[in-house]
Amino acid sequence: MSDIVPILERELGSGAVIGPGHERLDDYGRDESPLPEFFPPACAVLVDSTEQAAAVLRLCLEHNVPVTPRGAGSGMCGGALPVAGGVVLSTERMSRIKDIDAGDLIAVVEPGVVTGKLQEAVEAERLFYPPDPASLEFCSIGGNAATNAGGPRAFKYGVTREYILGLEVALMGGEVLRCGRRTAKGVTGYDLVAGFVGTEGTFGVITELTVKLLPLPVAATTVLGVFADVATAGAAISGLLRDGLRPRVLELADRNSIDVIRSKSRYRFPEGAGAIVLIEVDGEAETMGMMMEKIGLRCDELGALDVLAATEPAERRAVWEARRLISPSLKAAYRIKLNEDICVPRGRIVEMLARVDRVSAETRTPCAVFGHAGDGNLHVNMLSNDDPADPAVQKHMWGAARQIFAHAIELGGTLSGEHGIGLTKRDFVTMEQPERLIEWQRKWKAMWDPSGLLNPGKKLPARRPPCSE
Ligand code: MLT
Ligand code: ZN
Repeated sequence: MSDIVPILERELGSGAVIGPGHERLDDYGRDESPLPEFFPPACAVLVDSTEQAAAVLRLCLEHNVPVTPRGAGSGMCGGALPVAGGVVLSTERMSRIKDIDAGDLIAVVEPGVVTGKLQEAVEAERLFYPPDPASLEFCSIGGNAATNAGGPRAFKYGVTREYILGLEVALMGGEVLRCGRRTAKGVTGYDLVAGFVGTEGTFGVITELTVKLLPLPVAATTVLGVFADVATAGAAISGLLRDGLRPRVLELADRNSIDVIRSKSRYRFPEGAGAIVLIEVDGEAETMGMMMEKIGLRCDELGALDVLAATEPAERRAVWEARRLISPSLKAAYRIKLNEDICVPRGRIVEMLARVDRVSAETRTPCAVFGHAGDGNLHVNMLSNDDPADPAVQKHMWGAARQIFAHAIELGGTLSGEHGIGLTKRDFVTMEQPERLIEWQRKWKAMWDPSGLLNPGKKLPARRPPCSE
């Protein structure tokens, strides 16, 4: 690997390169994943255009240097960590909203646009971009597409992939490819857009996105079902699903999750709450009252201790602020937080919650469970205040995580519903997928990146050397 830093500075100007000795360089060796290690890159390049991104990818291939793409660094699985050193290619400066077209119901954006900012911009025009990852105030749309991010509203509206119509992608070596469309429908050729979304920056670097918009729902209202414990709350979620009710959100938070936000939250959660089911409906204003009443009555029948309505915008904002506080508050309260995002078939939610309880008790690992339970997508947070640098502690925690993964898979579920695989879960992929399937995926990766220099060490497990078979 030659010294790539002066080469990049010459090509892009020193203002684009954060090199050795720069106080911000270390930031690019970390993300929101729970790993104790730090992965220093040779430099980070803050590209401002597709041409600059392509130039970085061309020079890195020419000089045999690994490149790790990075959005806002909010990923939770280490997908943006430069594990092989080399260059971090950050799209944070590519943050322009190029077009919002109310007639075509689309927006064209650069990858560094913060998701919440895109939502505000389209809502000002009475349009709606539904995907709402909890980190929406700081995560970026390029990262959302790279991980196929979900969020609470995925329950009704689906995940990021369903909103990406077109992509511009810079490939390793510098070629720029435009795929997809700006029409509502279109089936010409293979669906490369769907193929790129969720690849966690291992196929190419997204440099522009055309996203689908919807008309903004006129009204929305939030209901909180308060339950004695997580098992009853889980059973109530299953009951609501069987009724065929389609709120836009059907979320769960257990006692540990509520307790950690209680003192910080503007919203006052009831003292005795052992679990909360958070339900939100949207649509025409005149239907809100009727839908709330129906949901409230069903929650009562399904064992709720209380049902609270949050109808005023300020009150709803406080509820959502509190919900988004759960993860950062757990992170602040514990030295280790393995934050998983398993997803099980909807009919197995109650069973999965019981198994989480069992693993927590058997391994003596406190857990907080919250998340998108209506989708079967549970954030199981395994918590500890032991020393994260102690390998025995890490082994214990990841052993507990392995048990959670095994249960999810046994119930017909998956390792990751929305956060991605990145670095932290790549070695668990073989629990879910057979070697042959993994091998086909390696071939697919090799087609886009034959050099293997683009985001190495992510998404798929390393091939085992023959002697270890
Ligand atoms: C959430 O839903 O809050 C996130 O996906 C999980 C997290 O931030 O831990
Ligand atoms: Zn989530």
